[in-house]
Amino acid sequence: MRIAIGADHGGYPLNEKVIKELDAAGHEILDFGTHVGSRPDDYPDYALKVGQAIQDNQADIGILICGSGVGASVAANKLKGIRAALCGDTYSGHQSREHDDCNVLCLGARVIGEELALEIVRAFVAARFTGEERHRRRLEKIVEIEKNEK
Ligand code: RB5
Repeated sequence: MRIAIGADHGGYPLNEKVIKELDAAGHEILDFGTHVGSRPDDYPDYALKVGQAIQDNQADIGILICGSGVGASVAANKLKGIRAALCGDTYSGHQSREHDDCNVLCLGARVIGEELALEIVRAFVAARFTGEERHRRRLEKIVEIEKNEK
Protein backbone atom coordinates (compact mmCIF):
# COMPACT_ATOMS: atom_id res chain seq x y z
CA MET A 1 0.00 0.00 0.00
CA ARG A 2 1.18 3.56 -0.68
CA ILE A 3 1.19 5.43 2.62
CA ALA A 4 1.93 9.16 3.06
CA ILE A 5 3.29 10.11 6.47
CA GLY A 6 3.76 13.52 8.02
CA ALA A 7 4.51 14.72 11.54
CA ASP A 8 5.23 18.06 13.16
CA HIS A 9 7.84 18.51 15.91
CA GLY A 10 5.29 17.23 18.46
CA GLY A 11 4.88 14.03 16.47
CA TYR A 12 8.59 13.36 16.18
CA PRO A 13 10.14 10.80 16.74
CA LEU A 14 7.03 8.57 16.70
CA ASN A 15 6.85 9.08 12.93
CA GLU A 16 10.28 7.42 12.57
CA LYS A 17 9.01 4.34 14.43
CA VAL A 18 5.87 4.18 12.32
CA ILE A 19 7.87 4.50 9.11
CA LYS A 20 10.26 1.74 10.20
CA GLU A 21 7.32 -0.54 11.01
CA LEU A 22 5.49 0.07 7.73
CA ASP A 23 8.64 -0.10 5.65
CA ALA A 24 9.49 -3.49 7.18
CA ALA A 25 5.97 -4.67 6.35
CA GLY A 26 6.63 -3.85 2.67
CA HIS A 27 4.58 -0.69 2.24
CA GLU A 28 5.62 2.15 -0.05
CA ILE A 29 6.24 5.19 2.13
CA LEU A 30 5.85 8.80 1.05
CA ASP A 31 7.70 10.55 3.86
CA PHE A 32 6.98 14.27 4.38
CA GLY A 33 9.04 14.57 7.60
CA THR A 34 9.77 16.11 9.98
CA HIS A 35 13.00 14.50 11.01
CA VAL A 36 13.92 17.31 13.36
CA GLY A 37 12.12 17.34 16.70
CA SER A 38 13.94 20.37 18.07
CA ARG A 39 12.66 22.92 15.53
CA PRO A 40 9.06 24.08 16.06
CA ASP A 41 6.97 23.79 12.92
CA ASP A 42 3.27 23.80 11.99
CA TYR A 43 1.02 20.74 11.78
CA PRO A 44 -1.27 22.21 9.06
CA ASP A 45 1.68 22.10 6.63
CA TYR A 46 1.97 18.35 7.11
CA ALA A 47 -1.79 17.82 6.97
CA LEU A 48 -1.86 19.63 3.63
CA LYS A 49 1.00 17.58 2.16
CA VAL A 50 -0.43 14.23 3.28
CA GLY A 51 -3.98 15.18 2.26
CA GLN A 52 -2.89 16.40 -1.15
CA ALA A 53 -0.88 13.22 -1.74
CA ILE A 54 -4.14 11.28 -1.33
CA GLN A 55 -6.15 13.74 -3.41
CA ASP A 56 -3.52 13.50 -6.19
CA ASN A 57 -3.55 9.68 -5.99
CA GLN A 58 0.10 9.52 -4.97
CA ALA A 59 -0.90 7.70 -1.79
CA ASP A 60 -3.73 5.36 -0.83
CA ILE A 61 -3.90 6.43 2.79
CA GLY A 62 -2.05 8.78 5.13
CA ILE A 63 -0.80 8.98 8.68
CA LEU A 64 -0.43 12.28 10.53
CA ILE A 65 1.21 12.65 13.89
CA CYS A 66 1.32 15.73 16.08
CA GLY A 67 1.48 16.20 19.85
CA SER A 68 -2.16 15.40 20.57
CA GLY A 69 -3.31 14.38 17.09
CA VAL A 70 -6.07 16.99 17.38
CA GLY A 71 -4.58 19.79 15.30
CA ALA A 72 -3.55 17.41 12.54
CA SER A 73 -7.04 15.89 12.35
CA VAL A 74 -8.78 19.28 12.32
CA ALA A 75 -6.53 20.50 9.51
CA ALA A 76 -6.73 17.31 7.42
CA ASN A 77 -10.53 17.22 7.63
CA LYS A 78 -10.67 20.62 5.90
CA LEU A 79 -9.51 18.97 2.68
CA LYS A 80 -12.11 17.65 0.24
CA GLY A 81 -12.38 13.88 0.26
CA ILE A 82 -10.16 13.51 3.30
CA ARG A 83 -11.64 11.68 6.25
CA ALA A 84 -9.13 11.83 9.07
CA ALA A 85 -9.58 9.77 12.22
CA LEU A 86 -7.89 10.66 15.48
CA CYS A 87 -7.47 7.29 17.20
CA GLY A 88 -6.22 6.33 20.63
CA ASP A 89 -7.42 2.73 20.59
CA THR A 90 -7.32 -0.20 18.19
CA TYR A 91 -11.11 -0.52 17.88
CA SER A 92 -11.35 2.99 16.44
CA GLY A 93 -8.26 2.20 14.38
CA HIS A 94 -10.02 -0.48 12.35
CA GLN A 95 -13.61 0.72 12.64
CA SER A 96 -12.70 4.12 11.23
CA ARG A 97 -11.76 2.31 8.03
CA GLU A 98 -14.46 -0.40 8.04
CA HIS A 99 -17.41 1.93 8.67
CA ASP A 100 -16.24 5.46 7.93
CA ASP A 101 -13.82 4.73 5.10
CA CYS A 102 -11.27 7.03 6.72
CA ASN A 103 -8.19 7.61 4.61
CA VAL A 104 -5.99 9.34 7.18
CA LEU A 105 -5.04 8.12 10.65
CA CYS A 106 -4.05 10.78 13.18
CA LEU A 107 -2.05 9.98 16.28
CA GLY A 108 -1.01 12.02 19.31
CA ALA A 109 2.61 11.24 20.10
CA ARG A 110 2.38 12.95 23.49
CA VAL A 111 -0.66 10.99 24.64
CA ILE A 112 -0.11 7.38 23.57
CA GLY A 113 2.81 5.02 23.98
CA GLU A 114 4.81 3.74 21.06
CA GLU A 115 3.53 0.15 21.21
CA LEU A 116 -0.13 1.18 21.28
CA ALA A 117 0.51 3.62 18.44
CA LEU A 118 2.03 0.85 16.33
CA GLU A 119 -0.90 -1.48 17.07
CA ILE A 120 -3.33 1.23 16.00
CA VAL A 121 -1.32 1.75 12.81
CA ARG A 122 -1.44 -1.99 12.06
CA ALA A 123 -5.19 -2.10 12.71
CA PHE A 124 -5.86 0.93 10.49
CA VAL A 125 -3.66 -0.24 7.62
CA ALA A 126 -5.04 -3.81 7.61
CA ALA A 127 -8.72 -2.82 7.76
CA ARG A 128 -10.90 -2.25 4.70
CA PHE A 129 -14.15 -0.39 4.13
CA THR A 130 -16.98 -2.93 4.32
CA GLY A 131 -19.01 -1.10 1.67
CA GLU A 132 -22.28 -1.83 3.45
CA GLU A 133 -25.25 0.23 2.36
CA ARG A 134 -25.72 2.02 5.68
CA HIS A 135 -22.11 3.16 5.68
CA ARG A 136 -22.29 4.32 2.07
CA ARG A 137 -25.44 6.27 2.86
CA ARG A 138 -23.71 8.08 5.72
CA LEU A 139 -20.63 8.83 3.61
CA GLU A 140 -22.85 10.26 0.87
CA LYS A 141 -24.31 12.62 3.46
CA ILE A 142 -20.80 13.80 4.32
CA VAL A 143 -20.16 14.46 0.62
CA GLU A 144 -23.37 16.51 0.55
CA ILE A 145 -22.15 18.56 3.52
CA GLU A 146 -18.89 19.24 1.66
CA LYS A 147 -20.78 20.22 -1.52
CA ASN A 148 -23.18 22.57 0.25
CA GLU A 149 -20.59 24.23 2.41
CA LYS A 150 -20.71 28.06 2.24
C1 RB5 B 1 2.79 21.46 19.02
O1 RB5 B 1 3.31 21.99 20.19
C2 RB5 B 1 1.36 20.95 19.25
O2 RB5 B 1 0.51 22.01 19.50
C3 RB5 B 1 0.90 20.14 18.04
O3 RB5 B 1 1.81 19.12 17.81
C4 RB5 B 1 -0.44 19.46 18.18
O4 RB5 B 1 -0.52 18.73 19.37
C5 RB5 B 1 -1.64 20.23 17.96
O5 RB5 B 1 -2.77 19.68 18.06
